[in-house]
Amino acid sequence: MNVVLGVSGSIAAYRAADLARELMRQGCTVRVCLTDAAQRFVTPVLFESLTGQPCLQDAFDEPERGRMAHIEWAKEADAIVVAPATANTLAKLAHGLGEDMLTTLAIASRAPLVVAPAMNPKMYADESTQAALTVLRGRAALVVEPASGEVACGDTGQGKLAPIEEIVSATMTVLRRSRALAGTRVLITSGPTHEPLDDVRFVGNRSSGRMGAALARAALLMGADVTVVSGPASVAYPLEARVVRVRTAVEMLAACLPLLAGADYVVGAAAVADYRPESPVSGKIRRSGETLDLRMVRNPDVLASLSRAATLPRPVFVGFAAEPDEGLEHARRKLAEKGLDAIAVNDVSGLGVGFEAPDNALTLLAPGVLEASGRQTKLGCALWLWERVAGLRGR
Ligand code: C5P
Repeated sequence: MNVVLGVSGSIAAYRAADLARELMRQGCTVRVCLTDAAQRFVTPVLFESLTGQPCLQDAFDEPERGRMAHIEWAKEADAIVVAPATANTLAKLAHGLGEDMLTTLAIASRAPLVVAPAMNPKMYADESTQAALTVLRGRAALVVEPASGEVACGDTGQGKLAPIEEIVSATMTVLRRSRALAGTRVLITSGPTHEPLDDVRFVGNRSSGRMGAALARAALLMGADVTVVSGPASVAYPLEARVVRVRTAVEMLAACLPLLAGADYVVGAAAVADYRPESPVSGKIRRSGETLDLRMVRNPDVLASLSRAATLPRPVFVGFAAEPDEGLEHARRKLAEKGLDAIAVNDVSGLGVGFEAPDNALTLLAPGVLEASGRQTKLGCALWLWERVAGLRGR
């Protein structure tokens, strides 16, 4: 496993030495590339001594004559990890500015990108940095979010380089992915639905679409062709995924039905509203009495309807169940009622997992299968899930 470790000019650059060592301990060959600013903090000699590999610096200074290192390394890399990633390097990566060896190499490579930002909290929170991260996430980069606390300049907030073990774990997640979905077509429902009350108000829920985006990203990494049918979510879906935007449950079902033929996997990660207001008002509901009665009617069950509509050869159907307790019995019943092959039970009771959170913990239930993922990032959970679900095809 070849890892290119890009180090940019943050005070946290010294911690890249530990990161290089940990990645090597995991069996990776680590080649380090330093930006000019990084060399103000750390030296190539440090990394060359640690890794036994030449360290790339200047875009025109090739360590081996006659070999264009930025192209060769880009081709041979199984992952590119930029840690620490400064605001400047993130912006260059997002916009494809090959201004130095690291950014040139990243543009030339098709390897998955892991970035671990580290900077002053104000710089991290700045719209320009967040916009760069959104672009990179949209391209399936894995962002290892910085930690909160006091940073080197004395300010406090989010901006400290994430713990080394988190960066290593994200890198290993990307490196160990399988290609079990190569050549398959995947349909994912994602996000909430908005059921209109009138022209400006709706009944919705807290689903962020992050799990759906992670499932899409993971399926792409594992070689699938991916279509996402998404309710109104602001999450960035990978650019390589086809995304169909809908608002309501009825629209979601209508968008999915024509996509069913040819799908090998259908995953329902959307939090579909079970009921919708019976008669949405055109214009705006005006304030009048002390109470307002609303009559709701049942929405179609998107996933169950798709499972009923599927013809042979049937895709593998996977549902999600967000249960406050583990609710396995409940989930087992849903498996049968909805005609699913597997169901992933989310534990939404814990802090930092489930709805709107970066992490998740899943329990997978299928005939003869009962397995827990443990707490992982949503991308980690998604790769874990796909690896197991891929095994259900053709069973
Ligand atoms: O019944 P429950 O909402 O807990 O089931 C969750 C699973 O069913 C999810 O996979 C969800 O996407 C799907 N679902 C659906 N349409 C509904 C309700 C749930 O597709 N109306």
